[in-house]
Amino acid sequence: MDSVKDIVEKLIMTGELTAEEYVFLLKNHEQSEVRERLTKEAVRLREQYYGKKVYTRGLIEFTNYCKNNCYYCGIRRGNPHAKRYRLTKEEILECCDQGYALGFRTFVLQGGEDPYYTDARMADVIRLIKEKYPDCALTLSIGEKSYESYKLFREAGADRYLLRHETADEEHYKKLHPQEMSLSVRKQCLYDLKALGYQVGAGFMVGSPGQTYETIAQDLIFLKALEPQMVGIGPFIPHHETPFADMPAGSVELTLFLLSVIRILLPKVLLPATTALGTIDPKGREKGLAAGANVVMPNLSPVKNRKQYDLYDNKICTGEEAAECRGCLKRRVASAGYILVGDRGDAV
Ligand code: SAM
Ligand code: FES
Repeated sequence: MDSVKDIVEKLIMTGELTAEEYVFLLKNHEQSEVRERLTKEAVRLREQYYGKKVYTRGLIEFTNYCKNNCYYCGIRRGNPHAKRYRLTKEEILECCDQGYALGFRTFVLQGGEDPYYTDARMADVIRLIKEKYPDCALTLSIGEKSYESYKLFREAGADRYLLRHETADEEHYKKLHPQEMSLSVRKQCLYDLKALGYQVGAGFMVGSPGQTYETIAQDLIFLKALEPQMVGIGPFIPHHETPFADMPAGSVELTLFLLSVIRILLPKVLLPATTALGTIDPKGREKGLAAGANVVMPNLSPVKNRKQYDLYDNKICTGEEAAECRGCLKRRVASAGYILVGDRGDAV
């Protein structure tokens, strides 16, 4: 095996490593020379393709009903104390109206897998938003659906889809999800979305229970092969009413390190500095931008429902109005030396 310095240079030169090399790199991620070299390269690439721009997406968490029971997630169906809500299509449109007035040109509709929101109802909402705001990009993040459903949403006007693969390792996937869910279905969904011409986002939690450097190596190899336009990674944070209540949260440092590595693997990727990163570290999102991220996702959901979209404990940004959220992020982005821009922010 080469020295870690050689492996860092190989990653920079070729944009990929073998599983063994990733593991070796990850074992050395706390070394300051390793971190500094990779961060510097990540920032160089990010600025080469996107300059100082940071894109903004208006996140609308429109339902916390979910038929799934993922062990890590606070709104899993097995949490009887989750106070359930769903927005009506009128409420969703009001969020878009408010967002548009604030300058958002991308809306993300995210939710649990809510049976009330049938394909027909979803397609209706998508059409209404795209008719009213044809200049905006519409992203969906509503979990696993059939090829036909994804096709219907695409024809209705959806442009992008976020579906984290969660982990690319079969055994690890089984530790995070009940029997009825499978990694092969999750991956097939991502391939279907790509085939249908969506801009696709995959990703995973950093520090999820059972994750190892070996499973992260599989994640990185999977991401490189899939070539998604977007990658969402953030630390795992325990939720007190899930089977993982007593598990430790993921590390800020490893998340930042992986943001830089992913920027080098996929130089043009749209990479958010996530709310979860901002939750475990008050400066987490600024640090994420400084590590190679180039997207932030302020919350446009109605304040009355924000706390109910309770994926993990102590989630930030659950009290502010949409305008405050955008203003706060604009200042944070500026403090990190970047400029928050309002355009659709397609991948270059
Ligand atoms: N239902 C959709 C899906 O499955 O893709 C979207 C909603 S789901 C809550 C969005 C993401 O939240 C998941 O992909 C997961 O990575 C993240 N998430 C859930 N629980 C979390 C936790 N405890 N800590 C950090 N992230 C979490
Ligand atoms: Fe469905 Fe988390 S278990 S959104």
